[in-house]
Amino acid sequence: MPTATWNRHHILSLADFTTTEYDTVLQTAASFQEVLSRRTKKVPTLQGQVVANLFFEPSTRTRSSFELAAKRLSADTLNFAAATSSMTKGETILDTAKTYLAMGTDIMVVRHREAGVPNAIAAEMDRLGVKVSVLNAGDGQHEHPSQALLDLFTITTLIDPASPRLELLKGKKMAIIGDILHSRVARSNIWSLIASGAEVHLAAPPTLLPKLFAEFISEEVVGRSQEVTERSRSESGVRSNSPTPQLFLHWQLEPALQNADFVMTLRLQKERMTAHLLPSLREYHQLFGITRTKLQLCQPNVKVLHPGPVNRGVEISSELMDDPEFSLIQSQVTSGVAVRMALLYLLGSGKA
Ligand code: CP
Repeated sequence: MPTATWNRHHILSLADFTTTEYDTVLQTAASFQEVLSRRTKKVPTLQGQVVANLFFEPSTRTRSSFELAAKRLSADTLNFAAATSSMTKGETILDTAKTYLAMGTDIMVVRHREAGVPNAIAAEMDRLGVKVSVLNAGDGQHEHPSQALLDLFTITTLIDPASPRLELLKGKKMAIIGDILHSRVARSNIWSLIASGAEVHLAAPPTLLPKLFAEFISEEVVGRSQEVTERSRSESGVRSNSPTPQLFLHWQLEPALQNADFVMTLRLQKERMTAHLLPSLREYHQLFGITRTKLQLCQPNVKVLHPGPVNRGVEISSELMDDPEFSLIQSQVTSGVAVRMALLYLLGSGKA
């Protein structure tokens, strides 16, 4: 495993991740990818530690891959699902977390439909003075750090399988298309891509990328980038090659796709929409759905990402989704295990 120091106790957001931290995650994940290619896919790294998956909102990919990642590291795993828990009898979120703490949990992986719940649990653990780490597995419209890190791993290993690192994306064009307003995946990806020096083009109908929200995102990116530059500089003694804000916003698809190296299309999050934001799904697909024909605007070797779950035929055509020449969707899921092993290892190895 890479020997770089890891000082972060919780992983709640990528907004203040440094280049060193991204590269440590990528290199550690590459080591675990190698472990996962072996006949015996298990290492004893987290033996004796307890990883609790506290999922207050449904999940397929994130929950299963965190569980598999913890098992591959030899940790004991606890799985919680709100619908079958004592929350149905009125137990609060913090009391639930404290119950898992009392069972000896070392790392809590938390998903919730409301933004800020993982932060609240982390703050409570810190207040109690315990060494428990909290990992945000997706909170409302806020962030989904492990998803963005696995996206980063997927595309950087495509460029250099032996040595994935942030700088490989410098100058690359990433188009992020769709329901930006409701997307925690987009927010976390914006931080990692901007830190890499990539050009990030967001495209959506105005209802899913409102002007005020677009201005907020742009201002936040500039502010955060300056902070991260300062941190990277003081950590490494040299200027990080990352934060030059390169964020572009479009209310039409074509300028975002033009010469793109990567296209990330997002699920229309109907469960988070409080108003009728689109005339019809059919019209949305015509205007913003990604198809093989529309990809002709991009670089010839363009690759398409989607965090899943997918509304087939809405944000992406069914045909393109299953086309291995363009689609990285299955690779993203595979990368998720190695990246989540890396995150659990980095948080857990200091606790032994
Ligand atoms: N990408 C993602 O978070 O998928 P799940 O909701 O299935 O975990």
